[in-house]
Amino acid sequence: MRPARGVAVLGSTGSVGRNALDVIARFPDRFRVSALCAGKNAEELSAQARRFRPPVVCLSEERHGSRLGRLPRGTRVVFGEEGMSEVACSGETDIVLAAAAGVTSIRPVIAAARAGKRIALANKELLVMAGKFLVGAARAGGGGILPVDSEHSAVFQAIEGHRKQDISRIILTASGGPFRNRTFRQMRNATVGEALGHPTWRMGAKISVDSATLMNKGFEVIEAMWLFDLPPDRIDVLIHPQSIVHSMVEYRDGSLIAQLGVPDMRIPVGYALSYPERLPLELPRLLPHRMVSWVFEPPDRKSFPALALAYAAAEAGGTAPATLNAANEVAVAAFLAGRIRFTDIVRVAEALMAAWRRGGRPATLKDVLRADAEAREEATRIISRMRRPHKP
Ligand SMILES: NC(=O)c1ccc[n+]([C@@H]2O[C@H](COP(=O)([O-])OP(=O)(O)OC[C@H]3O[C@@H](n4cnc5c(N)ncnc54)[C@H](OP(=O)(O)O)[C@@H]3O)[C@@H](O)[C@H]2O)c1
Repeated sequence: MRPARGVAVLGSTGSVGRNALDVIARFPDRFRVSALCAGKNAEELSAQARRFRPPVVCLSEERHGSRLGRLPRGTRVVFGEEGMSEVACSGETDIVLAAAAGVTSIRPVIAAARAGKRIALANKELLVMAGKFLVGAARAGGGGILPVDSEHSAVFQAIEGHRKQDISRIILTASGGPFRNRTFRQMRNATVGEALGHPTWRMGAKISVDSATLMNKGFEVIEAMWLFDLPPDRIDVLIHPQSIVHSMVEYRDGSLIAQLGVPDMRIPVGYALSYPERLPLELPRLLPHRMVSWVFEPPDRKSFPALALAYAAAEAGGTAPATLNAANEVAVAAFLAGRIRFTDIVRVAEALMAAWRRGGRPATLKDVLRADAEAREEATRIISRMRRPHKP
Protein backbone atom coordinates (compact mmCIF):
# COMPACT_ATOMS: atom_id res chain seq x y z
CA MET A 1 0.00 0.00 0.00
CA ARG A 2 1.13 3.57 -0.73
CA PRO A 3 2.35 5.51 2.32
CA ALA A 4 0.00 8.21 3.63
CA ARG A 5 0.50 11.49 1.75
CA GLY A 6 1.59 14.54 3.75
CA VAL A 7 -0.82 17.48 3.53
CA ALA A 8 0.16 21.01 4.58
CA VAL A 9 -3.10 22.80 5.38
CA LEU A 10 -2.74 26.55 4.86
CA GLY A 11 -5.72 28.21 6.55
CA SER A 12 -6.49 25.20 8.77
CA THR A 13 -8.70 27.19 11.17
CA GLY A 14 -10.95 28.48 8.38
CA SER A 15 -14.02 27.01 6.77
CA VAL A 16 -12.18 25.12 3.99
CA GLY A 17 -9.34 24.18 6.33
CA ARG A 18 -11.72 22.58 8.85
CA ASN A 19 -13.49 20.67 6.07
CA ALA A 20 -10.12 19.41 4.85
CA LEU A 21 -9.17 18.23 8.34
CA ASP A 22 -12.49 16.39 8.56
CA VAL A 23 -11.65 14.55 5.32
CA ILE A 24 -8.08 13.82 6.45
CA ALA A 25 -9.31 12.48 9.80
CA ARG A 26 -11.58 9.99 7.99
CA PHE A 27 -8.69 8.50 6.00
CA PRO A 28 -5.62 8.21 8.26
CA ASP A 29 -4.17 5.48 6.03
CA ARG A 30 -4.18 7.81 3.02
CA PHE A 31 -3.33 11.21 4.50
CA ARG A 32 -1.29 12.65 7.35
CA VAL A 33 -1.01 16.32 8.30
CA SER A 34 2.50 17.59 7.54
CA ALA A 35 1.78 21.16 8.71
CA LEU A 36 -1.01 23.39 9.93
CA CYS A 37 -0.98 27.13 9.21
CA ALA A 38 -3.30 29.83 10.49
CA GLY A 39 -3.41 33.61 10.75
CA LYS A 40 -3.93 34.50 14.39
CA ASN A 41 -6.27 31.91 15.88
CA ALA A 42 -3.55 30.28 17.99
CA GLU A 43 -6.02 28.56 20.33
CA GLU A 44 -7.74 26.59 17.57
CA LEU A 45 -4.44 25.90 15.82
CA SER A 46 -3.06 24.40 18.96
CA ALA A 47 -6.18 22.22 19.50
CA GLN A 48 -5.82 21.00 15.90
CA ALA A 49 -2.14 20.28 16.49
CA ARG A 50 -2.98 18.15 19.55
CA ARG A 51 -5.41 16.15 17.43
CA PHE A 52 -3.35 15.76 14.22
CA ARG A 53 0.21 15.89 15.67
CA PRO A 54 1.93 17.61 12.71
CA PRO A 55 5.71 18.09 12.87
CA VAL A 56 5.22 21.85 12.49
CA VAL A 57 2.60 24.58 12.85
CA CYS A 58 2.75 28.11 11.47
CA LEU A 59 1.17 31.40 12.55
CA SER A 60 1.18 34.65 10.56
CA GLU A 61 3.07 36.61 13.26
CA GLU A 62 5.23 35.83 16.29
CA ARG A 63 3.10 37.96 18.59
CA HIS A 64 0.25 35.41 18.30
CA GLY A 65 2.54 32.57 19.40
CA SER A 66 2.11 33.20 23.12
CA ARG A 67 -1.51 31.99 22.89
CA LEU A 68 -0.56 28.62 21.44
CA GLY A 69 -0.51 26.86 24.81
CA ARG A 70 0.43 23.21 25.01
CA LEU A 71 1.62 21.57 21.78
CA PRO A 72 2.41 17.88 21.22
CA ARG A 73 6.01 16.92 21.88
CA GLY A 74 8.08 17.37 18.70
CA THR A 75 5.78 19.97 17.07
CA ARG A 76 7.81 23.04 16.07
CA VAL A 77 6.38 26.51 15.58
CA VAL A 78 7.32 28.79 12.69
CA PHE A 79 5.98 32.17 11.65
CA GLY A 80 5.07 34.37 8.71
CA GLU A 81 5.72 33.99 5.03
CA GLU A 82 9.08 32.37 5.57
CA GLY A 83 7.60 29.78 7.91
CA MET A 84 4.78 29.07 5.48
CA SER A 85 7.25 28.59 2.61
CA GLU A 86 9.30 26.23 4.74
CA VAL A 87 6.34 23.98 5.57
CA ALA A 88 4.85 24.13 2.07
CA CYS A 89 8.14 23.08 0.46
CA SER A 90 9.30 20.60 3.13
CA GLY A 91 10.06 16.99 2.27
CA GLU A 92 7.22 15.96 4.62
CA THR A 93 4.67 17.68 2.36
CA ASP A 94 3.21 16.07 -0.77
CA ILE A 95 0.08 18.23 -1.11
CA VAL A 96 -0.44 21.88 -0.18
CA LEU A 97 -4.04 22.79 0.53
CA ALA A 98 -4.05 26.52 -0.25
CA ALA A 99 -6.96 27.86 1.81
CA ALA A 100 -5.51 30.83 3.69
CA ALA A 101 -7.55 34.01 3.28
CA GLY A 102 -6.16 36.80 1.08
CA VAL A 103 -2.97 36.74 -0.94
CA THR A 104 -0.30 36.53 1.77
CA SER A 105 0.41 32.92 0.83
CA ILE A 106 1.26 33.72 -2.81
CA ARG A 107 5.04 33.27 -2.51
CA PRO A 108 4.87 30.07 -0.40
CA VAL A 109 2.32 28.52 -2.77
CA ILE A 110 4.36 29.42 -5.87
CA ALA A 111 7.50 28.02 -4.21
CA ALA A 112 5.66 24.79 -3.36
CA ALA A 113 4.29 24.48 -6.91
CA ARG A 114 7.79 24.97 -8.30
CA ALA A 115 9.06 22.31 -5.89
CA GLY A 116 6.62 19.82 -7.45
CA LYS A 117 3.99 19.71 -4.69
CA ARG A 118 0.38 19.15 -5.69
CA ILE A 119 -1.52 22.37 -5.03
CA ALA A 120 -5.11 21.75 -3.92
CA LEU A 121 -6.31 25.27 -4.57
CA ALA A 122 -9.21 26.87 -2.70
CA ASN A 123 -7.65 30.32 -2.52
CA LYS A 124 -8.81 31.65 -5.92
CA GLU A 125 -7.41 35.11 -5.15
CA LEU A 126 -3.94 33.69 -5.81
CA LEU A 127 -4.85 32.84 -9.42
CA VAL A 128 -6.74 36.11 -9.87
CA MET A 129 -3.73 38.06 -8.69
CA ALA A 130 -0.85 36.11 -10.17
CA GLY A 131 -2.26 33.36 -12.39
CA LYS A 132 0.57 33.51 -14.88
CA PHE A 133 3.20 32.93 -12.19
CA LEU A 134 1.33 30.25 -10.24
CA VAL A 135 0.38 28.28 -13.36
CA GLY A 136 3.94 28.67 -14.69
CA ALA A 137 5.41 27.36 -11.41
CA ALA A 138 3.02 24.39 -11.37
CA ARG A 139 3.96 23.53 -14.95
CA ALA A 140 7.65 23.71 -14.12
CA GLY A 141 7.24 21.66 -10.92
CA GLY A 142 4.90 19.08 -12.43
CA GLY A 143 2.75 18.57 -9.30
CA GLY A 144 -0.30 20.26 -10.83
CA ILE A 145 -3.07 22.49 -9.50
CA LEU A 146 -6.21 20.64 -8.42
CA PRO A 147 -9.24 22.90 -7.96
CA VAL A 148 -11.07 22.90 -4.63
CA ASP A 149 -13.66 25.51 -5.56
CA SER A 150 -16.77 23.39 -6.18
CA GLU A 151 -17.42 24.97 -9.59
CA HIS A 152 -13.90 24.38 -10.87
CA SER A 153 -13.81 20.90 -9.41
CA ALA A 154 -17.01 20.26 -11.40
CA VAL A 155 -15.46 21.58 -14.61
CA PHE A 156 -12.28 19.61 -13.97
CA GLN A 157 -14.39 16.45 -13.64
CA ALA A 158 -16.48 17.28 -16.71
CA ILE A 159 -13.47 17.79 -18.98
CA GLU A 160 -11.53 14.71 -17.91
CA GLY A 161 -11.04 12.39 -20.86
CA HIS A 162 -12.14 15.01 -23.39
CA ARG A 163 -10.13 16.92 -25.97
CA LYS A 164 -9.65 20.61 -25.32
CA GLN A 165 -10.49 21.52 -28.92
CA ASP A 166 -13.95 19.94 -28.47
CA ILE A 167 -14.92 22.35 -25.67
CA SER A 168 -17.25 25.18 -26.75
CA ARG A 169 -17.60 26.88 -23.39
CA ILE A 170 -17.71 26.49 -19.66
CA ILE A 171 -20.81 27.44 -17.68
CA LEU A 172 -20.07 28.29 -14.06
CA THR A 173 -23.13 28.13 -11.85
CA ALA A 174 -23.77 30.57 -9.01
CA SER A 175 -26.31 30.41 -6.21
CA GLY A 176 -26.95 34.14 -6.67
CA GLY A 177 -26.21 34.82 -3.00
CA PRO A 178 -28.54 36.33 -0.41
CA PHE A 179 -29.54 39.34 -2.57
CA ARG A 180 -30.46 37.44 -5.71
CA ASN A 181 -33.79 39.19 -6.19
CA ARG A 182 -32.75 42.69 -5.14
CA THR A 183 -31.86 45.65 -7.32
CA PHE A 184 -28.60 47.53 -6.75
CA ARG A 185 -30.54 50.29 -4.99
CA GLN A 186 -32.27 47.81 -2.70
CA MET A 187 -28.87 46.49 -1.62
CA ARG A 188 -27.69 49.92 -0.51
CA ASN A 189 -28.54 49.40 3.14
CA ALA A 190 -27.81 45.69 3.31
CA THR A 191 -26.32 44.82 6.68
CA VAL A 192 -23.26 42.70 7.39
CA GLY A 193 -25.53 40.02 8.88
CA GLU A 194 -27.62 39.87 5.71
CA ALA A 195 -24.56 39.79 3.45
CA LEU A 196 -23.12 36.88 5.44
CA GLY A 197 -26.33 34.87 5.18
CA HIS A 198 -25.43 32.74 2.18
CA PRO A 199 -28.42 30.59 1.18
CA THR A 200 -26.61 27.30 0.44
CA TRP A 201 -22.95 27.33 1.58
CA ARG A 202 -21.38 28.01 5.00
CA MET A 203 -18.15 29.88 4.31
CA GLY A 204 -15.73 32.45 5.71
CA ALA A 205 -16.83 36.10 5.94
CA LYS A 206 -14.85 37.46 2.97
CA ILE A 207 -16.01 34.90 0.42
CA SER A 208 -19.60 35.18 1.73
CA VAL A 209 -19.58 38.93 1.01
CA ASP A 210 -17.95 38.26 -2.39
CA SER A 211 -20.77 35.82 -3.12
CA ALA A 212 -23.34 38.48 -2.20
CA THR A 213 -21.81 41.04 -4.63
CA LEU A 214 -21.12 38.28 -7.24
CA MET A 215 -17.46 39.41 -7.24
CA ASN A 216 -16.74 35.83 -6.18
CA LYS A 217 -18.25 34.58 -9.45
CA GLY A 218 -16.26 37.16 -11.38
CA PHE A 219 -13.08 35.93 -9.70
CA GLU A 220 -14.11 32.38 -10.55
CA VAL A 221 -14.25 33.35 -14.24
CA ILE A 222 -10.62 34.51 -13.99
CA GLU A 223 -9.74 31.38 -12.01
CA ALA A 224 -11.29 29.22 -14.76
CA MET A 225 -9.32 31.06 -17.45
CA TRP A 226 -6.07 30.06 -15.78
CA LEU A 227 -7.06 26.55 -14.78
CA PHE A 228 -8.59 25.54 -18.11
CA ASP A 229 -6.70 27.86 -20.47
CA LEU A 230 -9.81 29.44 -22.04
CA PRO A 231 -10.55 33.10 -22.84
CA PRO A 232 -13.22 34.90 -20.75
CA ASP A 233 -15.69 35.02 -23.64
CA ARG A 234 -15.91 31.21 -23.47
CA ILE A 235 -16.73 31.20 -19.76
CA ASP A 236 -20.34 31.97 -18.88
CA VAL A 237 -22.22 32.29 -15.62
CA LEU A 238 -25.72 31.05 -14.82
CA ILE A 239 -27.62 31.56 -11.60
CA HIS A 240 -28.73 28.24 -10.13
CA PRO A 241 -30.12 28.90 -6.63
CA GLN A 242 -30.24 25.21 -5.63
CA SER A 243 -26.40 24.84 -5.83
CA ILE A 244 -26.74 21.22 -6.98
CA VAL A 245 -25.32 21.46 -10.50
CA HIS A 246 -21.86 22.75 -9.64
CA SER A 247 -20.93 23.72 -13.22
CA MET A 248 -21.13 22.43 -16.79
CA VAL A 249 -19.00 22.10 -19.90
CA GLU A 250 -20.56 22.48 -23.33
CA TYR A 251 -18.96 20.56 -26.21
CA ARG A 252 -19.06 21.39 -29.89
CA ASP A 253 -21.57 18.62 -30.65
CA GLY A 254 -24.02 20.38 -28.30
CA SER A 255 -23.57 17.99 -25.36
CA LEU A 256 -23.48 19.49 -21.89
CA ILE A 257 -21.58 17.56 -19.23
CA ALA A 258 -22.19 18.63 -15.65
CA GLN A 259 -21.18 17.49 -12.18
CA LEU A 260 -23.87 17.38 -9.49
CA GLY A 261 -23.75 16.88 -5.76
CA VAL A 262 -24.99 18.13 -2.41
CA PRO A 263 -23.36 21.45 -1.49
CA ASP A 264 -20.66 20.10 0.82
CA MET A 265 -17.06 21.29 0.46
CA ARG A 266 -15.72 17.95 1.68
CA ILE A 267 -16.51 16.48 -1.75
CA PRO A 268 -14.32 18.82 -3.87
CA VAL A 269 -11.67 19.00 -1.11
CA GLY A 270 -11.55 15.19 -0.97
CA TYR A 271 -11.24 14.90 -4.75
CA ALA A 272 -8.42 17.46 -4.91
CA LEU A 273 -6.52 15.48 -2.26
CA SER A 274 -7.18 11.99 -3.60
CA TYR A 275 -7.28 12.50 -7.41
CA PRO A 276 -7.40 10.36 -9.51
CA GLU A 277 -9.04 8.13 -6.88
CA ARG A 278 -12.39 8.93 -5.29
CA LEU A 279 -12.75 8.65 -1.56
CA PRO A 280 -15.58 6.58 -0.07
CA LEU A 281 -16.97 9.67 1.69
CA GLU A 282 -19.99 8.76 3.73
CA LEU A 283 -21.97 11.95 3.34
CA PRO A 284 -25.65 12.59 2.65
CA ARG A 285 -26.37 11.62 -0.97
CA LEU A 286 -28.05 13.68 -3.62
CA LEU A 287 -31.49 12.25 -4.34
CA PRO A 288 -32.51 13.67 -7.75
CA HIS A 289 -36.09 12.44 -7.45
CA ARG A 290 -36.51 14.60 -4.33
CA MET A 291 -35.61 17.78 -6.23
CA VAL A 292 -38.75 19.75 -6.95
CA SER A 293 -37.16 22.08 -9.49
CA TRP A 294 -33.78 23.10 -10.81
CA VAL A 295 -33.69 26.69 -11.95
CA PHE A 296 -31.08 28.25 -14.25
CA GLU A 297 -31.22 31.94 -15.16
CA PRO A 298 -28.79 34.56 -16.49
CA PRO A 299 -27.31 36.87 -13.85
CA ASP A 300 -28.72 40.37 -13.49
CA ARG A 301 -25.62 42.31 -14.57
CA LYS A 302 -27.17 45.69 -13.78
CA SER A 303 -27.80 44.83 -10.13
CA PHE A 304 -24.47 43.02 -9.82
CA PRO A 305 -21.89 45.21 -11.62
CA ALA A 306 -19.01 43.31 -9.97
CA LEU A 307 -19.42 40.58 -12.56
CA ALA A 308 -18.83 42.97 -15.49
CA LEU A 309 -15.85 44.48 -13.67
CA ALA A 310 -14.25 41.05 -13.32
CA TYR A 311 -14.85 40.24 -17.00
CA ALA A 312 -13.31 43.60 -17.95
CA ALA A 313 -10.27 42.88 -15.75
CA ALA A 314 -9.96 39.43 -17.31
CA GLU A 315 -10.05 40.90 -20.83
CA ALA A 316 -7.56 43.63 -19.94
CA GLY A 317 -5.13 41.16 -18.36
CA GLY A 318 -1.80 42.43 -17.04
CA THR A 319 -2.16 43.78 -13.51
CA ALA A 320 -5.89 44.56 -13.88
CA PRO A 321 -7.12 41.42 -12.04
CA ALA A 322 -4.58 42.01 -9.23
CA THR A 323 -5.79 45.60 -8.93
CA LEU A 324 -9.43 44.52 -8.81
CA ASN A 325 -8.69 41.84 -6.25
CA ALA A 326 -6.78 44.20 -3.96
CA ALA A 327 -9.45 46.92 -4.18
CA ASN A 328 -12.16 44.39 -3.43
CA GLU A 329 -10.32 42.90 -0.45
CA VAL A 330 -9.80 46.32 1.15
CA ALA A 331 -13.42 47.33 0.46
CA VAL A 332 -14.88 44.09 1.84
CA ALA A 333 -12.83 44.51 5.03
CA ALA A 334 -14.15 48.09 5.34
CA PHE A 335 -17.73 46.88 4.85
CA LEU A 336 -17.31 44.14 7.46
CA ALA A 337 -15.94 46.80 9.87
CA GLY A 338 -19.05 48.96 9.31
CA ARG A 339 -16.96 51.63 7.57
CA ILE A 340 -18.77 51.63 4.17
CA ARG A 341 -22.08 50.50 2.70
CA PHE A 342 -22.52 47.19 0.92
CA THR A 343 -22.90 48.90 -2.47
CA ASP A 344 -19.73 50.95 -1.82
CA ILE A 345 -17.68 47.76 -2.23
CA VAL A 346 -18.26 47.74 -5.97
CA ARG A 347 -17.93 51.53 -6.13
CA VAL A 348 -14.39 51.27 -4.72
CA ALA A 349 -13.56 48.51 -7.19
CA GLU A 350 -15.02 50.57 -10.07
CA ALA A 351 -12.92 53.60 -9.11
CA LEU A 352 -9.74 51.54 -9.07
CA MET A 353 -10.53 49.91 -12.40
CA ALA A 354 -11.36 53.29 -13.99
CA ALA A 355 -7.95 54.59 -12.86
CA TRP A 356 -6.07 51.44 -13.93
CA ARG A 357 -3.66 52.16 -16.74
CA ARG A 358 -2.78 49.53 -19.28
CA GLY A 359 0.94 48.87 -18.99
CA GLY A 360 3.16 46.14 -20.30
CA ARG A 361 2.56 42.59 -19.13
CA PRO A 362 3.89 42.11 -15.57
CA ALA A 363 7.32 40.59 -16.11
CA THR A 364 7.83 39.35 -12.58
CA LEU A 365 5.80 38.54 -9.47
CA LYS A 366 7.30 41.71 -7.96
CA ASP A 367 5.45 43.81 -10.58
CA VAL A 368 2.17 42.17 -9.54
CA LEU A 369 2.91 42.67 -5.84
CA ARG A 370 3.65 46.35 -6.52
CA ALA A 371 0.30 46.77 -8.33
CA ASP A 372 -1.42 44.99 -5.43
CA ALA A 373 0.18 47.32 -2.84
CA GLU A 374 -0.63 50.46 -4.85
CA ALA A 375 -4.26 49.38 -5.32
CA ARG A 376 -4.62 48.73 -1.59
CA GLU A 377 -3.27 52.20 -0.81
CA GLU A 378 -5.58 53.87 -3.31
CA ALA A 379 -8.63 51.89 -2.16
CA THR A 380 -7.88 52.90 1.45
CA ARG A 381 -7.66 56.54 0.37
CA ILE A 382 -11.00 56.36 -1.48
CA ILE A 383 -12.69 54.68 1.49
CA SER A 384 -11.38 57.33 3.90
CA ARG A 385 -13.27 59.94 1.86
CA MET A 386 -16.57 57.97 1.86
CA ARG A 387 -19.36 58.81 4.27
CA ARG A 388 -19.69 56.24 7.06
CA PRO A 389 -23.14 54.56 6.86
CA HIS A 390 -25.66 55.17 9.64
CA LYS A 391 -26.20 52.24 11.97
CA PRO A 392 -29.56 50.64 11.07
N1 LIG B 1 -15.42 28.52 2.39
C1 LIG B 1 -15.65 27.94 1.25
O1 LIG B 1 -16.57 27.12 1.14
C2 LIG B 1 -14.79 28.24 0.04
C3 LIG B 1 -15.14 27.68 -1.20
C4 LIG B 1 -14.32 27.91 -2.28
C5 LIG B 1 -13.19 28.70 -2.17
N2 LIG B 1 -12.87 29.25 -0.96
C6 LIG B 1 -11.65 30.07 -0.85
O2 LIG B 1 -10.81 29.50 0.15
C7 LIG B 1 -10.12 30.51 0.86
C8 LIG B 1 -10.44 30.40 2.34
O3 LIG B 1 -11.84 30.61 2.51
P1 LIG B 1 -12.56 30.30 3.91
O4 LIG B 1 -14.00 30.50 3.68
O5 LIG B 1 -12.06 29.01 4.45
O6 LIG B 1 -11.98 31.51 4.77
P2 LIG B 1 -11.99 31.69 6.36
O7 LIG B 1 -13.00 30.81 6.98
O8 LIG B 1 -12.07 33.15 6.60
O9 LIG B 1 -10.56 31.15 6.79
C9 LIG B 1 -9.39 31.80 6.40
C10 LIG B 1 -8.19 31.03 6.92
O10 LIG B 1 -7.00 31.75 6.53
C11 LIG B 1 -6.21 31.97 7.69
N3 LIG B 1 -5.40 33.17 7.52
C12 LIG B 1 -5.82 34.46 7.50
N4 LIG B 1 -4.75 35.27 7.33
C13 LIG B 1 -3.66 34.48 7.25
C14 LIG B 1 -2.28 34.72 7.10
N5 LIG B 1 -1.78 35.96 6.99
N6 LIG B 1 -1.42 33.65 7.08
C15 LIG B 1 -1.91 32.39 7.19
N7 LIG B 1 -3.21 32.10 7.35
C16 LIG B 1 -4.07 33.13 7.36
C17 LIG B 1 -7.23 32.09 8.82
O11 LIG B 1 -6.58 31.95 10.07
P3 LIG B 1 -7.26 32.58 11.43
O12 LIG B 1 -8.46 31.73 11.70
O13 LIG B 1 -6.19 32.40 12.41
O14 LIG B 1 -7.58 34.01 11.12
C18 LIG B 1 -8.14 30.93 8.45
O15 LIG B 1 -7.55 29.71 8.81
C19 LIG B 1 -10.57 31.84 0.24
O16 LIG B 1 -9.63 32.23 -0.71
C20 LIG B 1 -11.90 31.51 -0.44
O17 LIG B 1 -12.15 32.31 -1.56
C21 LIG B 1 -13.64 29.03 0.14
